[in-house]
Amino acid sequence: MKAKVAPSLLSADFGNLARDIEEINNSEADYLHVDIMDGVFVPNISMGFPVLKAINKSSKKPLDVHLMIVNPDQYIERFRDAGAAILTVHYEACTHLHRTIAHIRDCGMKAGVALNPHTPVEVLADIIQDVDLVLIMTVNPGYGGQKFIEHSYSKLSRLIKLMDETNSHPMVEVDGGVNFDNAEKLVNHGVSVLVAGSTVFGAPNKAEAVLKLKGK
Ligand code: DX5
Ligand code: ZN
Repeated sequence: MKAKVAPSLLSADFGNLARDIEEINNSEADYLHVDIMDGVFVPNISMGFPVLKAINKSSKKPLDVHLMIVNPDQYIERFRDAGAAILTVHYEACTHLHRTIAHIRDCGMKAGVALNPHTPVEVLADIIQDVDLVLIMTVNPGYGGQKFIEHSYSKLSRLIKLMDETNSHPMVEVDGGVNFDNAEKLVNHGVSVLVAGSTVFGAPNKAEAVLKLKGK
């Protein structure tokens, strides 16, 4: 099993962020996943630029920034300046997705597109060749610690089919309810990046949890 793992900081201890990030620095995690929520696109508010900049100072892992916000276009440069290596926007939040993706890449970041659970992968047919990452939400976005939606496996199979048909090779990331029981099955369905919040930050030893998700 050779998936990458991106611990989601949303489940960290926000009173001890630097300590928790240091534990991830000392693990085999590939990215640090950071969730930005605006209270409009999702019914929750997480953090803004000052906190993201502080996270970037502490993190040795590249930041995988997941925007759950409306109108992301106006903030793309600021997310780059705050340290994002991958910037993922939601399909449902972007009227001019092609322009947004190009803007992210022009700023030197990898560009991702995320799909809510009810959004079919087929809507990506005319953009999939231009993105570096597709994020399949396997819970409804907004909160950590929710239950994985089982229907996601057939959605992943349809995504892989679309990638074959379009000869495109984005990273395939899943986010929400990823745990030790479903990680291997997800990788067998073509997932290349596992996001895991409560599974990593709720574990007594975060580095061990990362290894276990990697099947090591
Ligand atoms: C939810 C966030 C996730 C969240 C995942 O909207 O996008 O990244 O932190 O948490 P778990 O892994 O606990 O489901
Ligand atoms: Zn996320």
